[in-house]
Amino acid sequence: MSGGRNLVRLGILLSGRGSNFLAIAESIRQGRLKGAEIDVVISNVPDAGGLKIAEELGLASKVFASTGRKRAEHDADMLTCLQAHKVDLVCLAGYMRLLSPDFIAAFPNRILNIHPSLLPAFPGLDAQRQAFDYGVNVAGCTVHFVDDHLDHGPIVLQRAIPVLDSDDAHSLSARILAEEHLAYTEGIGRVVSGEYAILGRRFVKRTH
Ligand code: GRF
Repeated sequence: MSGGRNLVRLGILLSGRGSNFLAIAESIRQGRLKGAEIDVVISNVPDAGGLKIAEELGLASKVFASTGRKRAEHDADMLTCLQAHKVDLVCLAGYMRLLSPDFIAAFPNRILNIHPSLLPAFPGLDAQRQAFDYGVNVAGCTVHFVDDHLDHGPIVLQRAIPVLDSDDAHSLSARILAEEHLAYTEGIGRVVSGEYAILGRRFVKRTH
């Protein structure tokens, strides 16, 4: 995606506490995620914790409250904002609302999401508890491109962890979250490098 010396411009979409957003911002600050910068943080929830983090980090942020609004209209506002900030890559970081087809079409294979399960297992809400209750031995997280289906697009990377006998759904979620923070930086880094191809659903490294 990068190619030249220009930084890839990231737009973060979130709805909640923003720990994945913070992990991305820290990775950039500490030089662990090169070639990218965060240009705008957008929340659909006015009191999302992630907005406070953006303010503390001195990053531009914007609220587009989604309650009671039609998805297409709400997403059109977000799209205008992202385009005004010349965003190249949209990163969903706990953005808890489905995106409209028009929004997704505006960023083909340019929207990433992190999901707290090893997809295609346990899409949707409360994935960690779904996995725990199902009794899986291995859990984890997935960084993937966003397409028109929920938690479905091509997978960039996954990180797996064992489920311990001593786990409950909370401890498992906490250990998955720690993996998410590593995975998202690595996944964005792979995309920002531009050295990949998407073959069918497969994300493969491209060597020049
Ligand atoms: C994470 O578990 C992420 O995988 C899911 O929503 C949660 C967001 O957490 N999509 P945070 O706001 O990044 O702390």
